[in-house]
Amino acid sequence: MTSVDTNACYMAIVQLTKEAGKLVRERIWNKKTVQTKSCEVDLVTETDQQVERLLIEGLSSSFPDHKFIGEESTAEGLKCELTDAPTWIIDPVDGTMNFVHGYPNVCISVALWVNKVAEIGIIYNPVLEQFFSAQKGKGAFLNGNQIHASSETELSKSLMIMEFGTSRDPNKMKVVMENMQMLVPLVHGTRSSGSAALNMAMVAMGAADAYFEYGIHAWDIAAGDLIVREAGGVVMDPAGGPLDLMSRRMLCAGTDQLAEKLTATVKQLYLERD
Ligand code: IPD
Ligand code: CA
Repeated sequence: MTSVDTNACYMAIVQLTKEAGKLVRERIWNKKTVQTKSCEVDLVTETDQQVERLLIEGLSSSFPDHKFIGEESTAEGLKCELTDAPTWIIDPVDGTMNFVHGYPNVCISVALWVNKVAEIGIIYNPVLEQFFSAQKGKGAFLNGNQIHASSETELSKSLMIMEFGTSRDPNKMKVVMENMQMLVPLVHGTRSSGSAALNMAMVAMGAADAYFEYGIHAWDIAAGDLIVREAGGVVMDPAGGPLDLMSRRMLCAGTDQLAEKLTATVKQLYLERD
């Protein structure tokens, strides 16, 4: 079994995400160069690429044997592979569509997984100064204050997060719309704020009761997974059973009971794995 000094890793990543956060904060309302990736709504800016470089270079210099899975490195052709080696899973700007439009729900999401287990999760919105963090077994925090997921068990009293995501695949859109149409009358309210990582952070702090999405990638949820669980919530496959980080499917909730009600209700969709 590989072992790492998680405290040293935590201190390094806190400092690096704060530094990278300055770039996001300074540029969110500036003109950007925007390119498209898998489709016309899957966007990337120079800031996404620069933040990912800054984090990977900084972490590599302190931890030369660590591996990386990064959204923009994967877009440039690097393999997205999770082994037992210490692996940093990075979404440099989650909510790139928001960043492009100046909608301040954006974050940097970074997780450290070792032996395929999440050890550290950071979700940092530098525009609104929300720093969510967790280390395995030590609880989840927002700006240093401990947070807890909600205790809601009923669908009818839940605030539910659902997203269209960054794909316009007709088959996927159909399932997403059917689920929205089915769930909207069943729940208290629904929200879609354009950042998977911050959606999970909202579940972790009890601001939303549940969230599920098809089409997300490992980097969207790798930090949120630990933060939600350390806040007392549950993260699983939308059909029930354990989360598979590479499956492009995720459901999280404040309670098992609510998660089970959702898994029994939602229409399923299986996509090509990461
Ligand atoms: C996207 C956002 C969005 C979610 C998509 C993600 P990006 O990430 O998290 O909320 O619905 O599935 O791909 O492209 O902004 O990093
Ligand atoms: Ca993302």
